[in-house]
This record gives sequence, structure tokens and C-alpha cells, in this order.
Amino acid sequence: MRKLTPDSLAISEEPHPIGVFDSGIGGLTVAAALRQLLPGEDIFYIGDTARVPYGGKSATTIQRYSREISDLLLAESAKIIVVACNTASALGVPRLKETLHVPVIGVIQPGAEAAVRATQNGRIGVIGTRGTIASEAYQRAIYALDAKVTVSSQSCPILVPLIEEGWIDDPISDAVIERYLEKFVSNGIDTLVLGCTHYPLMREAIQRFVGPGITLVDSAANCALAVRDLLQEKGLFAPVNHRGNLRVAATDATDGFLRVAEKALGIDVGEVELRTVRGGS
Ligand code: DGL
Repeated sequence: MRKLTPDSLAISEEPHPIGVFDSGIGGLTVAAALRQLLPGEDIFYIGDTARVPYGGKSATTIQRYSREISDLLLAESAKIIVVACNTASALGVPRLKETLHVPVIGVIQPGAEAAVRATQNGRIGVIGTRGTIASEAYQRAIYALDAKVTVSSQSCPILVPLIEEGWIDDPISDAVIERYLEKFVSNGIDTLVLGCTHYPLMREAIQRFVGPGITLVDSAANCALAVRDLLQEKGLFAPVNHRGNLRVAATDATDGFLRVAEKALGIDVGEVELRTVRGGS
């Protein structure tokens, strides 16, 4: 396989894919947003289903996983790496940016920027996995943009398994959402960041509970906009008239959740390819 360097990328006529990864299938929310915004781009997506969930693992482990999956994407000639996982964005992106030869983009910074733009009263809430919330990555990103806002956060570890079970519109999920979010609706936030790439699949149920007065910030849509800006800035758009496609690979079985995500997102992922992680579990 031809080795890519930043120079070869800039002058390349061959369409190289955007490499996207998540701990599992939740990052397909980002892939779907990219397909919609950038239909001319090829996307190669890898879900690390052999090692999902990332949400409760240490920073060292997440950094290793992020590097190993990025290497699989680089082996597919990815021109940029999109980290479609908040946990890996919070804990793995800084190291990837230092060490990879292609641009790397995560979901935290675009989500933080969108939240600061959206808030009217300066009170922002963030929900995510334990790893994302404990890292305080959203707080740092938001305060760096606007030191006057207040940020409150809540980890919601049970939401990911409920979504993976397909209980997207279900009274049990509604009760869990209420348990996690009731403090937010009473503490006056006007903006809530869905800081996990699974959560957009439960967007309607979350909006129903928090009510129309709270704006939901979706990391998937905002990440896609940031990817478009990055491709523009680096001169990395696919050739005009190229029709993009989506290829999906996983490091283990994808079970029923893939079909849940396909249906909810209105995308067709076709045959899922298998990729093996050299580093193991
Ligand atoms: N999609 C992951 C994220 O955005 C959550 C799933 C996991 O815990 O691996 O953080």
C-alpha cells in the first residue's frame, strides 16, 4: 500500500477516505451526518466492537485503543481521522494529534463551540459516559471559549446499553432519562450537550423530557461541520463529481445494534468487514 505523507495528500487525485472510529456503532451518528453534509466523500468507519464500551476505561487504555484503531484506518489510506467517540476524543485525541501524520479531529471541540453559540443564559449542561465526564474535557473546552458561562455535568452510564438494546422509545428509557436529567431541568440550563455519540439516537426522548426550552447540542452534526471546514482548510476534498461511499468495519460481531442504528439513522451500511486489532484487549 502506498505510504501517505501530508504532501502526497495535498496533491492526490485519488479519493482517499475520511477515517472515522468509535468504540462501537454509536459513532455511526457522525458517519451519517458526514454522509449528509459531504456526499462526495468516501468514509471508512471502524467500530471497536471487540472492546466496547470505552466509557469506564482508563486514559492509558483509551490512548492505546485510539492509536491501534487509527493505525487500521491509516492502513485504509485515511486522509484524516475523525474520532467519533466522546470518550476517545476526551482521552485519546491530544496524543493522536501529536503522533499521527494526518489531521485528527474529535467531537469535543465542535460540541463545545456549538454549546457556547447556543446558550442565551450562559448555563450549559453536559451528559456523557463516566470517562468523558470525569475527564472534564468539555468544561475545559467551553471555559477556554467563554470563561463566563457555567457548566454542569452528569455521567449517564446506563443510556448506552439501553440504546444498544434498541430501547430508543421506551418507558424504561424514559424513566432512566428522568432519573439522570431531573437536576438539569431544575437548575436553569438552556443548553444540553449530548456528549456521547450514542445519544443522538435518543434525542427525541431526551428533548421530550427536558422540554422545548432547552437546546440539545448534538456532537455528530457539529463534528461533521468541523470536518468540512478542516477538509477545506487542508485542501483535502475528494475530486468534484466523485460519489462518496460508506464502508463499515468492526473488530468483532456487531449484533443487533447495527440494524437499530441503520434504521434510526436512515443509512445502509451494507456488509460489515472484520478488522483485527494487533494490540489485543
Ligand atoms: N460512543 C461512546 C462515546 O461517545 C460511548 C460508548 C462507550 O462507552 O464506548 O463516548
